[in-house]
Amino acid sequence: MTERIIINEVGPRDGLQSQEKHLTGDERRLLVDALLLAGLKHIEVGSFVSPKAVPQMAGTDQLLAALHPPSNVELSVLVPNMKGYELARAAGASTVAVVVSATETMNEKNIRMSLEQTLEVAKAIIERGRAEGARVQAYLSVAWECPFEGPVPASTVIEQAGLLADWGADEIVIADTIGAANPGGVRSVMDELVSQHGGKRLACHFHDTRAMGLANVFAAIESGVRRFDSSVGGLGGCPFAPGAKGNVATEDVAMMCEQMGFETGIDMPSLLAAVELASALTGYAQGGRAHYWLSNNAA
Ligand code: COA
Ligand code: ZN
Repeated sequence: MTERIIINEVGPRDGLQSQEKHLTGDERRLLVDALLLAGLKHIEVGSFVSPKAVPQMAGTDQLLAALHPPSNVELSVLVPNMKGYELARAAGASTVAVVVSATETMNEKNIRMSLEQTLEVAKAIIERGRAEGARVQAYLSVAWECPFEGPVPASTVIEQAGLLADWGADEIVIADTIGAANPGGVRSVMDELVSQHGGKRLACHFHDTRAMGLANVFAAIESGVRRFDSSVGGLGGCPFAPGAKGNVATEDVAMMCEQMGFETGIDMPSLLAAVELASALTGYAQGGRAHYWLSNNAA
């Protein structure tokens, strides 16, 4: 049987939150619908954050109400605090993503909380999610390097991931928020985490800032990880993490995995149509590293 790699599309959240052009609710819905058409079964569609902090994500409640995905599709939303969790649940979200940054300064810059406070909030959200039957993805952000504090020791990430696991997070997502990891560093952290928690409970989130996004995905596959975040056309960058570029592109990850013999369930021509739509909507040409080749060869 062909082994599956799960791709969690984060373009509508991680990708759009940093765009100069703020998309309307209808435009965001068009993008998500195009991604559903391309066969993506896991999509992070937005966030419940302060509209002052991230105006691009205002109206995620209305977006959720307007989407009618098939029953085998998981739509998720990012929540930075309990208020976000409550708003997300009231809007019908059944999967939420909570974010802990591995360093003190990144938590302050991103959500204006200390590391200790952020961990407390994450624990409360994970426990409440479990009690209420919601699925909670716990992100560990700046897991290899922080734009403010520099390299993050592997021992810190392993300890924090252990806490998130102990509290009962359904999934622990190790995120290279600024795209500073390399395949060697990915292997050493993910090998250890897979040995402690198993591959099924882990996912990785890479940005392509230094052209190592795809190499890092490969390294994590070698460690036993089978679930990856990526964004259509490589859309993205984090407004709170200086120097962050877009996520590794969904079409690049899908191409590599398929060529390696994994199944992704993605229809490449439809995904390329979603890349075109993302370009038209944002006003910038989008596309991963294999965009030119794929556009001429994908069938
Ligand atoms: N959703 C919507 N509004 C929220 C909110 C949420 N989850 N959490 C707080 N707010 C509102 C408050 O009600 C308050 O509104 P008011 O000014 O109208 O009274 C305002 O935001 C400030 O609230 P406060 O608790 O003082 O928060 P803060 O100013 O310290 O900001 C965050 C903290 C977390 C709300 C803010 O930094 C944020 O939304 N960050 C998101 C960062 C992000 O998305 N990063 C990218 C993904 S990792
Ligand atoms: Zn990211």
